[in-house]
Order: sequence, then structure tokens, then C-alpha cells
Amino acid sequence: MKPNDLSEIVSSDKSHVWHHLSQHKPLQASDPMVIVEGKGLRVKDINGREYLDAVSGGVWTVNVGYGRESIADAVRDQLVKMCYFANSAGNIPGAQFAEKLIGKMPGLSRIYYSNSGSEANEKGFKLIRQLAALKNDGKKHKILYRDRDYHGTTITTLSACGQEQRKDQYGPFTPGFVEVPHCLAYRAPNGDDPDYGVQAAKEIEKIILREDPDTVGSLCLEPITAGGGVIVPPEGYFETVQEICQKYGVLLHIDEVVCGMGRTGKWFGYQHFDVKPDIVTMAKGVASGYAAISVTATTEDLFNEFLAEPSEKLSYFRDISTFGGVAGGPAAALENMRIIEEENLLENVNNMGEYLMGRLNELMDKYEIIGDVRGKGLFVGAELVKDRKTKEPVDESVAAAVAADCLRQGVMIGRTNRSLTEYNNTLCLSPALICTKDDIDEIVNSIDVALGNLQQ
Ligand SMILES: Cc1ncc(COP(=O)(O)O)c(C=O)c1O
Repeated sequence: MKPNDLSEIVSSDKSHVWHHLSQHKPLQASDPMVIVEGKGLRVKDINGREYLDAVSGGVWTVNVGYGRESIADAVRDQLVKMCYFANSAGNIPGAQFAEKLIGKMPGLSRIYYSNSGSEANEKGFKLIRQLAALKNDGKKHKILYRDRDYHGTTITTLSACGQEQRKDQYGPFTPGFVEVPHCLAYRAPNGDDPDYGVQAAKEIEKIILREDPDTVGSLCLEPITAGGGVIVPPEGYFETVQEICQKYGVLLHIDEVVCGMGRTGKWFGYQHFDVKPDIVTMAKGVASGYAAISVTATTEDLFNEFLAEPSEKLSYFRDISTFGGVAGGPAAALENMRIIEEENLLENVNNMGEYLMGRLNELMDKYEIIGDVRGKGLFVGAELVKDRKTKEPVDESVAAAVAADCLRQGVMIGRTNRSLTEYNNTLCLSPALICTKDDIDEIVNSIDVALGNLQQ
């Protein structure tokens, strides 16, 4: 292939690449989007068209923005020195990043590396299953997950998925996963009750009792649900969840794959609430997409459960992730974390998040179609409805049309994908943590124009 022969790139992509989450039939009559460059919040496609990316790489990942030479340099230097060794041995950036990360997560103390959010969650599930086998005669093996949450793409993480369209056609699933109700006040019959958060958490207790507490090992929750419609838990929810977990000896597994590393204005989403997780998983923002890395963090207590004499042959966590040993991952993560600290990005997230929320609330005053705006930090959703009173959701094609109009204007926004049968109606925004008021104005103005165009 001749260098920079762009027509060949497009034709190779069109002929051979099977894109994620895509129906390819319409692509037969058009060209795929191919992204070739990025700097800050902006990306350029193969035709030279520039876009403002309001979703950090499409799926809330490139938290520190594109084109960070210092991360690329850190990865390069590490790869030249020592690219890979299985994580049964240590490596220098792996040890350094573990130390720094644990410094941000009081109460947790062990870091297990792998390379995707799904995999990090699977490790959490495997820990629970093995713990049940080692200590509880196999009884405490059930894993609870919540309606509307997502924890990954493998068959077992889909078994813990509260989004019915994501799971549809991929069963049969792994047994022992049990759903609990969502906590979206806007869509709950008792959502206006000031005590709704506590009531929603108590629904989980009912399920633990129904299943028999002796059989329930863990509860896996997103701190703020992402792809299920940007759901911030109501007041009192997590504190009650914590009490329930303690009461029944159920370990709390928090999936920070989206919220982790500053997206919501704290290092981790769970840190907005008074809660002490036993397992925390993270991936996307850990290295902002500059390297593939994911982490399953645990308490020392959980780690200690797997300490035994070597003669107890099956007692240790018999798990490996080949690419959990790629040393470029923690090298990128260390530099990513240094950038967040040095550039005070958590403060920027809080300030810009407030500004973004204010601008979206103004849009809500202008357009009846916006039924609810919710979020934390630079992680915000706007739910579109046909009628504010009945809250009947718009068809997913309406949210798709808004996103397409924004794209036409040069702004990439997100929307709930084909995840929930009725509720693929939420626009999602998660710009890089470095974004400015001007960037936010450009994003919100494009949505303003798109919503205006819907009315014509
Ligand atoms: C909350 C959450 N958990 C887990 C995952 C799975 O991560 P990955 O795609 O890296 O396997 C995702 C991906 O979107 C996610 O949003």
C-alpha cells in the first residue's frame, strides 16, 4: 500500500473491518468514518474534517485529551526498556502505579492488572466464586447486578447486565446472576418521595432475603450508571446499600470503568457517597486510551482470604491475563495520573461540569422535549420525551437524529445505544476533563440547533 493513499485506506476498511456496534448494510452505500488525528478535544477524519469530540473517543475514554506527547513518550521509553513480562512477576511502572492509585483509594490496598473493563469485572466475579468455594462451602456464590447497569461484553459480564437489548440473542447466560431494580428517580413511581433513595436501596434487601443471604456473595453496581442513561443515585441510596451489604455479608463491587479517574469530579464516582467498596474495577480513563489497561482493586481483607500454605494447592487466585503484563499500560497510567494532578483537572471537571449542567438546564427551559437533565462532573445526560407530563420516551430515532445533526455541525455527542427496549432516548455528554467554557458552548449550541431543527 502506498503511504497516505487515503482511498486505499477507506476501501480496505470497507472491505475488511467489522466495526463495533454497527449494522454494516447502510455502510455499503457510504464510506466509513476513519479518524486519523486528534489534539485536545478535536479529532480529524480522513477527509480532513474536524470535529469537537464531546464523548472522549466515543465511549468516555480519552479523559486527558488527544495528542499527549508525554504519555506517548512514557509508553515508548518503557517499551524500549522492558515491554512485557507476565504479571506473575512485577514490573517497575506496575508497582509505581499501584502505589499511587492506592493512595487515591483509602480502604483498598491490592491492584490486579488486566486489559479491559469486562475483564476487570470478570476478575471481581471470579474472586467471589472462588471465595465462596474456599470459605463458604460454595454457598455465597450469587452475584447481584442492577437493572440498567452494564459491566462488559463477555458472556459472563452480560450475565450481569441490566440492559435487555445488549443481552438479547446472546444467551444462555452464566448461572447465579440476579437482577435488582434500578434507582432512577425520574422513572420510578415513588421517585418524588424525598426518601426514594433509601426505598430504592431497600428493594435490594428484599431480593437478598428472597434469594437467601447465605447464597449471595456480592452486589455489583456502577457508581453512576453510564450507558443505561446516566443515572446518579438518589440521596441516601449508597449509604443504605452499604448498611444492607454489611448486614448480610455481601461484598460490594463498584464498577468504575466509566466514572474512574476523575470523570465525575472526584477520583472515583463512589467517593461522592459514604461507601466503602470491597472491589473496585476501572479501565477506560486509567490511561485515557493511550494503552490498554484495566484494574481490579480489592481490600487487604479480601486479598488475605486467598493466603494459605502452598500445600493447599487450589487456594490462590488461579487467574492470569496475558496482556495484564504489558508494561506500557501502567507507564501510560502513571503519566495520565500525573497530568490530572498537575493540571488540576478534578477542579476543572467540577467547574466545567457545573457550567455544562447550567447550560443544559437553559436548554431544558427552551425545549419541552428535554424531560430530565442529570449527571455529575463532566458526565451528563439529557433524556428526551414526547410529553413532559406522561414522560413517554421519544423513539430512539429522535435521539439518533439529534446526534446526527450535531455531527453535521462538527460536534460528536453520544446517546444511549441499542441497550434498553424503550429507553434509548438519552443524549450523553462526556467531554475530556480539559474542556473549556468555549468547548461547552460549542457542544450545547449544536444541540440547541439540532433540537430547533426537530421542531421544523
Ligand atoms: C460501566 C462499564 N463497565 C464495563 C465496561 C466494559 O469495558 P470494556 O469495553 O473495556 O470491556 C463498560 C464499557 O462501556 C462500561 O461502561
